[in-house]
Order: sequence, then structure tokens, then C-alpha cells
Amino acid sequence: MTDNITYWGTINKLYILYIFSVHLLLFLFTVVVVVNLCGCADPLNVLLIVSDDLRSSLEVSSPNLDQLASKSAVFLNAFAQQAVCGPSRISFLTSRRPDTTRLYDFNSYWRVHAGNYTTLPQYFKSNGYTTMSVGKVFHPGIASNFSDDYPYSWSVPTYHPPSFAYEKRKVCKGQDGKLHANLLCAVNVSEMPLGTLPDMESTAEAQRLLRTVKDGQSPFFLAVGYHKPHVPFRIPQEFLKLYPLENMSLAPDPDVPKGLPSVAYNPWTDIRKREDMQALNISFPYGPIPKDFQLRIRQHYFAAVSYMDSELGKLLSTLDDLDLAKNTMVVFTSDHGWSLGEHGEWAKYSNFDVATQVPLIIYVPGVTSAVEKPGKKTFPFWDVFQHPHMRFSEGRAVRNVVELVDLFPTVSELAGLKPPPPCPHSSFAVQLCTEGSSRALSIQVLKEGIDVEAIAYSQYPRPSDAPQADSDLPSLADIRIMGYSVRSHSYRFTVWVTFDPVNFTANLTDIHAGELYLLKDDPGQDHNIYNSIMHGTALVKLGSRLPWGTALRQHLLYFTAGSKPNGTP
Ligand SMILES: *[C@@H]1O[C@H](CO)[C@@H](O)[C@H](O)[C@H]1NC(C)=O
Ligand SMILES: *[C@@H]1O[C@H](CO)[C@@H](O)[C@H](O)[C@H]1NC(C)=O
Ligand SMILES: *[C@@H]1O[C@H](CO)[C@@H](O)[C@H](O)[C@H]1NC(C)=O
Ligand SMILES: *[C@@H]1O[C@H](CO)[C@@H](O)[C@H](O)[C@H]1NC(C)=O
Ligand SMILES: *[C@@H]1O[C@H](CO)[C@@H](O)[C@H](O)[C@H]1NC(C)=O
Ligand SMILES: *[C@@H]1O[C@H](CO)[C@@H](O)[C@H](O)[C@H]1NC(C)=O
Ligand SMILES: *[C@@H]1O[C@H](CO)[C@@H](O)[C@H](O)[C@H]1NC(C)=O
Repeated sequence: MTDNITYWGTINKLYILYIFSVHLLLFLFTVVVVVNLCGCADPLNVLLIVSDDLRSSLEVSSPNLDQLASKSAVFLNAFAQQAVCGPSRISFLTSRRPDTTRLYDFNSYWRVHAGNYTTLPQYFKSNGYTTMSVGKVFHPGIASNFSDDYPYSWSVPTYHPPSFAYEKRKVCKGQDGKLHANLLCAVNVSEMPLGTLPDMESTAEAQRLLRTVKDGQSPFFLAVGYHKPHVPFRIPQEFLKLYPLENMSLAPDPDVPKGLPSVAYNPWTDIRKREDMQALNISFPYGPIPKDFQLRIRQHYFAAVSYMDSELGKLLSTLDDLDLAKNTMVVFTSDHGWSLGEHGEWAKYSNFDVATQVPLIIYVPGVTSAVEKPGKKTFPFWDVFQHPHMRFSEGRAVRNVVELVDLFPTVSELAGLKPPPPCPHSSFAVQLCTEGSSRALSIQVLKEGIDVEAIAYSQYPRPSDAPQADSDLPSLADIRIMGYSVRSHSYRFTVWVTFDPVNFTANLTDIHAGELYLLKDDPGQDHNIYNSIMHGTALVKLGSRLPWGTALRQHLLYFTAGSKPNGTP
């Protein structure tokens, strides 16, 4: 207990530092506004690149991404609002949290199901931009009305790579020499149906569009959604060579932690469905996966990231070829992360950092990096096989905790558009507003103090307390519990509460389980101290930061006053 008191004492000291740094920041802002924002430039083009299931902490060879980062603002603590594709994408593209899009699964279109919200590309389109989508940007299907929200969001119909049709087919050569629908699917690309892979087709289409619009009358907003490193790992086989199996290691914390509430666990059902995984007859829900296979999953994920990096490199070098690097903002992110065996978990579908934290890299020509002289390249292509250990200088690190709902106002402001106004308390009827904040200032000032009080909110639904077949991704009607999670610089705090999917109401006084991780000593979030922490002010402090109305806060006050709810000792 003493440790915890000391810990919170430290927080208070940091808070004083924070107050000081706010003043410093305001001062810097004044300087920068004068220096930087003349408002005289032509509008910037925007290239938004979204990777699928790309976690932020990785030891991989990714020279092209590293080069982009070296010329960009790099948000080291950016978090998705729900760690699964559809809900996260609709959330950051509308700048509303899942409780406002009411999309926790893949099965509804927000315009008819929640509210007629304006999207990020739609906002650019309405401001005179030509907006285009290549690959997976919106989640396909009902979630974007089977059209990627065209024509609202896009000037032209969207592009999907034809070879994606074969993504889950039996195209992976197994050890028996036959073709299977495997998780591990390193292939000879020339032997694939259509002789190509989806991300290669997306790069080619994006390059084609860039050539088409480069001399256009209006600025462009091009979104490119790469499919990798999402499973199955159908990737060009040569990328495996970068990661010899003997060099691979397991996650630092490969076991399910003792104090992990069962409701927090995701049983990774999607990877279990693949033929190579089924052959292993892995026990449900906790496994484990045999160690040698864990190493191979990690190897294939890393290789998939290097493959995606090479596609990214080709795309960015096209900006140079077309002389667009000087007036195009580049935004790179992912919809959420992916557990690679941490806590005995695989895939996304949880509130842990490995699932919620995302890379967020923003290049603004002339702001995050000087514009290169004519003829000099900003984004030369790096062949990862020739430069696997290429080192670049770090970009401008932004350490503040930020959220993907911040993307919409941030990108708008950086491009010179007015960021959407903050959403009112209930915003279902408001078309254009943001539940995030513009981080443009973090990018424009040279050095920012750290706001230790900043919080990122994520959430994850479950159908039941114990893991069952649909725990990874319950349909709306089956949701019974919502895990609301806050992440600051120093802790992750999650409460799993009763949730009603008919009236979308969380009962914040009905807590099924809680998790509290103090990150200084437990960055991997393996030691849940929710049930042991007794230091009242800590919980009061946490409660005051929660956004879900006063009920939870009052509950926490009630909790700390000595009366305890169900499920806590
Ligand atoms: C939704 O908003 C768009 C403009 O953003 C408008 O064209 C459309 O008519 C609206 N739909 C409904 C059902 O209000
Ligand atoms: C969804 O798509 C259908 C078919 O194209 C169209 O009729 C309908 O109006 C669209 N929904 C909205 C809300 O625009
Ligand atoms: C890939 O497949 C093509 C066509 O079958 C073949 O010619 C080539 O040798 C294969 N490459 C490798 C590295 O196996
Ligand atoms: C694998 O590890 C060995 C020993 O540390 C190292 O020499 C080698 O470069 C590594 N291989 C790759 C491809 O990283
Ligand atoms: C799969 O594992 C279960 C126990 O976990 C065992 O009862 C069953 O026989 C195994 N099946 C095969 C085909 O190995
Ligand atoms: C939502 O539904 C639940 C169960 O049907 C009910 O207990 C609760 O009072 C409802 N909440 C609201 C705000 O209507
Ligand atoms: C919320 O949960 C508490 C504790 O289980 C219960 O007493 C209360 O009736 C619930 N409230 C609603 C509106 O269902």
C-alpha cells in the first residue's frame, strides 16, 4: 500500500510540473503563431494511410515508415477508441466515440442507426477537395452502406483490390504440399490468383490516382487503406527471410495473468478458424498455442509489417516523382493494435495497450520537416532486403496521450480548414462536431510540455463474464457488458459494467470486474491491482476523470467510502 501512496504523491508533483509546462506551452504558442501560421499558402493535399491491425510497439525492419517518421510529428501515445476494425474506423472517420456512433460490431450504418454525422473525407469534399478512397478505409459492408459511404464521403466511387477476393481461400501451400486456408500464408506471388496481392494493387491504384489529380484545379484528399498486417498472413514469401525463426522470441508475458478478470480476456476465435490452427487442436478459451507456433505467428506478423512498409515506400516515393511532397500532408495510422501473445492473447478485441495503442505519424511539409530543394527527394524508396537495419533520426516525438477521435480536427486544422466544433453533451442530431481535440498545436510548436492528466478513452463490449465463442466480437443484441477504459501516462483503469443493448445504457453501479495497472512498474499490464488498491484518493482522482456522467464518479466515491459493490472484495 505504501508504494501506492508514494506513487500518487509523484503524480501530484508531476501535476505541478504540468502547470508550469502549460505556461511554457502558451508562450511557445505565441511565438509559433507569429512565425508559422501566415495563412498565405495554397491548401495542402492530404494523403491518409491506414494500416490494418498494426500495433505501435514492434521491433521490425520498416525503413520507409521510419523515414516518414523522421520527417514527421510522431505521437508516441495514441489510442484507438475500440480495438476492432469497423467501430474504430467509423469512430475516427466521424470523430465520435462508439457510444455516439452506436457501432460496436459491424452491423449497422451510422447515418440511419445513430445520426447523420459528417465524416473527415466528407468535410474535405465539402470544402472543395477531390476525395478518393483506395482499399480498406471505411469498414466495408453494412457499416458503410455497401459503398464506403459514397457519395457522401468521396468524389468518385471507391476502389477495392480485386485480389482481395482470394484472401481467405485455400491458396496457402501447407507442409503436405496441398493448398489450405491457413493463418500462416507466405506465398509465391506469381502463383497467386491474378498474380498479385491486394496491397500491391492498392499501391498501383493510388499511384494512378495521384498522377490523375496532381495537376487538378482542386486539392486532393486521398485515403489508402492497406490490408496488412491483418490476418491471414498472406504475404510474399521472401519477407520471412528478414525474420529467421531462430531469431524470434515469445512475448515477454506469454501467460494469462492471474489477476485478469475473465471478462477482460479475448479468446482469439478468428485465428482459431484457420486450417493450420485447427490442426493444432488448441483448447478453448485459454490455449495456449504451442511455443514453436507462437514464434511462427510472430515471425509472420513482423514479415507482414515489412511487406506493408515496402508498399508504403513505393507510394511515398510517388509523391517525390510527381513533385507532391512539398504540398501534401501525410498521415499514417492504424485502426488499432494486435496482441502477439501478451497475456496469452492474440488479435485485437481487448482494452490492453497492445490492442488499443496505434502508430500516429503526421508529416506536414515545411512544418515537421523542411521542404527539400527541387530535385532532392523527400521520400526515397528503401528496399528492406538491402537496408534491413537502416537507421533514421527520430521525428518530432509528441508524448502526450492522444486519441484517434482527435484525427479529424487535427488534420482539418493542419490543412487550413476550421476544425469542427466540440460536440454538445448529446450530439445525435448534430451533423458536424468532434468528440476529440485538435492536436495541430502539438505539431506546430517545437517542444511541448507533457500533460500528465491527459486521458485516452477506449471501450470494449462482451456478451458474458466468461469467455465464449462470440466474446471477441459480440453482435449488438448480445452485448451485456461494456468495459470502459481510461489510459493516462501513468495508469490504465478499466471497469466492466452491465450494458443494455436496447437502450444503449450502461449501469455504472453494476460493476462486473475492474482492472488497474500502474504503468511505471507494470508497462505490460500484467499485475491487476484493482482489487487490492485501498488508497481512496486514487480512485476519487480517477473517477473525476471519467466522462460517462456522474454516476460512475459517484459510484467510485461510494466505493471508496467503504461500501463495496458486487464482485469486489
Ligand atoms: C445526411 O446529411 C447529408 C449531408 O451531409 C444530406 O445530404 C442527407 O440528405 C442527410 N440525410 C438525412 C437522412 O438527413
Ligand atoms: C444506402 O444505399 C442505398 C442503395 O444505394 C441507398 O438507396 C440509400 O439511400 C443509402 N442510405 C443512405 C442513408 O444514404
Ligand atoms: C514462383 O513461381 C513461379 C511460377 O510458378 C516460378 O517460376 C518461380 O520459380 C517461383 N519462385 C520461387 C522463389 O519459388
Ligand atoms: C539473427 O541473429 C543473429 C545473432 O544475433 C544475427 O547475427 C543475425 O543478423 C540475425 N538475423 C537477422 C536476419 O536479423
Ligand atoms: C483435441 O484435444 C482434446 C482435449 O483438449 C482431446 O480430447 C481430443 O482428443 C483432441 N483431438 C485430437 C484430434 O487430437
Ligand atoms: C434500459 O433497459 C434496462 C433493461 O431493460 C432498464 O433496466 C433500464 O432502466 C433502461 N434504462 C433507461 C435509461 O431507459
Ligand atoms: C443498476 O445496477 C444496480 C446494482 O446491480 C441495481 O441495483 C440497479 O437497479 C440497476 N439500475 C438499473 C437502472 O437497472
